[in-house]
Amino acid sequence: MVTFSDRLKSAMEQKHLKQVDLIRIASQQGVKLGKSHISQYVSGKTIPRNDILHFLADTLEVDAGWLSCKTAEDPAPTGSISHSTSAPEKSQQEILNPGGNNTMREFKKSSKLNNVLYDVRGPVVDEAAKMEERGTHVLKLNIGNPAPFGFRTPDEIIYDMSHQLSDCEGYSASQGLFSARKAIMQYAQLKKLPNVTIDDIYTGNGVSELINLSMSALLDDGDEILIPSPDYPLWTACATLAGGKAVHYLCDEQSNWYPDISDMKKKINDRTKALVIINPNNPTGALYPKEVLQQIVDLAREHHLIIFSDEIYDRLVMDGQEHISIASLAPDLFCVTFSGLSKSHMIAGFRIGWMILSGNKSIAADYIEGLKMLSNMRLCSNVPAQSIVQTALGGHQSVESYIVPGGRIYEQREYIYNALTDIPGISAVKPQAAFYMFPKIDTKKFDIVNDEKFALDLLRDKKLLIVHGGGFNWKEPDHFRVVYLPRIEILKEAVEKIGDFLSYYRQ
Ligand SMILES: Cc1ncc(COP(=O)(O)O)c(C=O)c1O
Repeated sequence: MVTFSDRLKSAMEQKHLKQVDLIRIASQQGVKLGKSHISQYVSGKTIPRNDILHFLADTLEVDAGWLSCKTAEDPAPTGSISHSTSAPEKSQQEILNPGGNNTMREFKKSSKLNNVLYDVRGPVVDEAAKMEERGTHVLKLNIGNPAPFGFRTPDEIIYDMSHQLSDCEGYSASQGLFSARKAIMQYAQLKKLPNVTIDDIYTGNGVSELINLSMSALLDDGDEILIPSPDYPLWTACATLAGGKAVHYLCDEQSNWYPDISDMKKKINDRTKALVIINPNNPTGALYPKEVLQQIVDLAREHHLIIFSDEIYDRLVMDGQEHISIASLAPDLFCVTFSGLSKSHMIAGFRIGWMILSGNKSIAADYIEGLKMLSNMRLCSNVPAQSIVQTALGGHQSVESYIVPGGRIYEQREYIYNALTDIPGISAVKPQAAFYMFPKIDTKKFDIVNDEKFALDLLRDKKLLIVHGGGFNWKEPDHFRVVYLPRIEILKEAVEKIGDFLSYYRQ
């Protein structure tokens, strides 16, 4: 029979927590948990009181009923978060099934999700949410969401949207409003995307929806697609969910985080259908020069691959550099280019993005039919948000004042780069675009073997939330991502916390 001790041990193992970790977390939270207590629970000599049981369940992110063996034997502990704050008198099963028959059906997530990882909003974030629920203030450098950091949507956008709201009650055409697509088409012309008509433009509820849609329409089980490592993990997640195999190519920190072309080459085989680039890049902040893009185009041409280019940060480029759309270099290939207004216009919550099909569309006629089917099936994207695309893409671009010297994003980048790389054991490539940096930690110096644990320990000790490198499909435990959207005073506080943490932290 499975006992409390068995479940406790397995949950601790899953979370990589030892008895000392639980004692430390308990003392931080003012919960009385001594060495002898926890060792008795682990050895099975005794079981805890209800308040301790709930503390353990919350910390280990398991259901309290499961931990105490009141609910069914089976469910694995990971991710099954306890929502109970007080001790239940009866398990949910007893309430639903007072006869005590233990054969109630359980509902599990689809096995299609088994290999899907999306840690940008994963277990460390769940822990931060719990800390906040308990009243702890958490400093968040984990999500590229401009609004909470005081980046306001341009007034004109709000004004135009409110004026058009009553005209946006119905569904639009599934690919989007004519006015929005026309403006995107003109934007595509400025970026020199070849062979783009208004029919080649699809609006979406953010780029996110279109990443999912484009992967679902393309990939059969076992089809391979090259995705960068590190990546914006939605690409890997959607390719995997679609049944495809995400094959990660390296971006090379020694070469400004540019894609390693020889690694890409090595990873292409006859199941490879496409490659993805993220330019400018999240999480590294890299901007790819024409020579690198040209080599990627040559590779795609040689191996007959579709190019997917995620360019959502194309208007957030610093140091007077120019963003080049890879599709502009590939008129003979089929390319899909993604962008949107979440970042450049600080309206991540309005949900508007788009994808543009360009180049040689005849080779992708059947795929395009699939895209149209999926686009029709979701009816249309958010119409009020589509209504301001024309306003947003035309005229004065207020984001430009943020990315030049004296502007917030520029100055915050200068600060975070200098301050973080001043900490012994931290190095970084200076980002050139977007608002992320992907610093390297000297794992030998700090004995770090598990970067998720590093993020969790930093969160628990310093109430600071970052995302560990593994969250971006980076295999070594030696990186983390910071979002440098907060003002310098806040970034300063964050850097001090990291510096102090690393002065004593060893794994
Ligand atoms: C590289 C990249 N692509 C796509 C997205 C999703 O953006 P959207 O808000 O348009 O869904 C993000 C969001 O952070 C991103 O960083």
